[in-house]
Amino acid sequence: MSQILANVFPQENAIPDQFKIAEPIEQREYLINGELKIWNGNLNPVLSPVFLKEGNGYKQKVIGSTPLLTSKESLEALDAAVKAYDMGHGLWPTMSVIQRIDHVEKFLAAMRKKRGDIVKLLMWEIGKTLKDSEKEFDRTCDYITDTIKALKDLDRNSAKLVEEQGYMAQIRRVPLGVALCMGPFNYPLNETFTTLFPALIMGNTVVFKPAKYGVLLIKPLLEAFRDNFPAGVINIIYGKGRETVGALMESGKVDVFAFIGTNKGANDLKRLHPKPHRLKAILGLDAKNPAIVLPDADLDNAVAECFTGSLSFNGQRCTALKILLVHKDIIKPFLEKFKAEVKKIKPGMPWDSGVGLTPLPEAGKVDFLRDLVEDAKKHGAEVVNENGGEHLNSFFYPAVLYPVNDKMKVYYEEQFGPVIPIVTFDSDEEAIRYVVNSNFGQQVSIFGSNSKRVAHLMDAFVNQVGRINLNTQSQRGPDTFPFNGRKDSAEGTLSVADALRVFSIRTLVATKST
Ligand code: G3H
Repeated sequence: MSQILANVFPQENAIPDQFKIAEPIEQREYLINGELKIWNGNLNPVLSPVFLKEGNGYKQKVIGSTPLLTSKESLEALDAAVKAYDMGHGLWPTMSVIQRIDHVEKFLAAMRKKRGDIVKLLMWEIGKTLKDSEKEFDRTCDYITDTIKALKDLDRNSAKLVEEQGYMAQIRRVPLGVALCMGPFNYPLNETFTTLFPALIMGNTVVFKPAKYGVLLIKPLLEAFRDNFPAGVINIIYGKGRETVGALMESGKVDVFAFIGTNKGANDLKRLHPKPHRLKAILGLDAKNPAIVLPDADLDNAVAECFTGSLSFNGQRCTALKILLVHKDIIKPFLEKFKAEVKKIKPGMPWDSGVGLTPLPEAGKVDFLRDLVEDAKKHGAEVVNENGGEHLNSFFYPAVLYPVNDKMKVYYEEQFGPVIPIVTFDSDEEAIRYVVNSNFGQQVSIFGSNSKRVAHLMDAFVNQVGRINLNTQSQRGPDTFPFNGRKDSAEGTLSVADALRVFSIRTLVATKST
């Protein structure tokens, strides 16, 4: 076993006291109709991606458990949301914008007090580094604050009367009904709340099911949700997706489906709804964002951006760069510099200082990545970096694969992990074809300095993806920018302001100006 693997997982007594979880957290509470109910049925163990050294072996840390609710409880949650909405006549959808903002501000104040607990759980549940976990928490609070500001602007503008062709009208945005919100495991707080809060603040009532991993970290907020919103406005359920969420969709009572996950998962759930035309979907789905590195790119910048773009949070970002297309004239120096960057990355536990690579939370992920690497090797690629692809338990050391071609699974499939496929191209048309033929259309990054050549690529991509990044990695932020995707990558646009629009509809009162 290499030194990297031998040292990656600690013994329990080596964990700093402030980050230890002494006793597993047994969660039995769930929130329905303003009441924290206690579940006495089966529980789902919460396994951390962190393994601990014990004697000659390793033991996966169990940090707690969550309720395995059934369709019965999830339908109770839905009934509570339906009742609170009351066909649009409920207290929440008819409340003034200022009053709704007041509820959200009180929730936010209570949430801020739980920063330490939530950051710690982010580290233990999904292996996110301390720095990135803190960033996720703070970014989420900022998102809620910015949402409040954006709603005040929207409301101010809606107060004006519009005059047109002899008619006058007041046009306002109103809620859609009952929303089901589900977030992803890689941003279980941030991405979930970027749909949950716009949905709530626009007057919808919500059933919220936390992500597959990153579930316990909602527990510190349950009381704040209960205490700061009227009964039934926000309901929080736990359990297996098919059993709980499937029943909600089959009921036909969900009006808005906000989901961040795979397009397969979204399709399976959407088709359960008996009246698809009444279901509005807001989806953030799979992506395979390419970087295209032209021969005249600033190489140091391209390498630095491709490195963080493909490896921050172990490559587990929907916006990550998931394939690097590098021009053949610069492939040699690019590879050398890229490998040198990868070598500097520090593996370890989320709380270790300066750590850049941590264990992966998804069960079976290491095997999936290993298979991708083996398949690429079978078709002619090599792992070109030292220790590339070494793995132990939930830890996978980055594998830089070169030369990658279209016979390999990793050329098409989203790896969502630390595998970096590198392809060379000669003519720019080859890079254009990759993007055009891809099933995904979230973003692309172009690295180059010849404006004519860059403009040619931009023109080719403008109708293919939601965002073209120039000499910088792909990313969602700043959160005021529109975030969307084409093809199988998304449905609807999110941003601080856009989210308020997607969770509402315009309605107007009009009369003749006379
Ligand atoms: O996983 C998808 C996230 O929205 C990515 O956000 O680009 O800010 O990491 P980010």
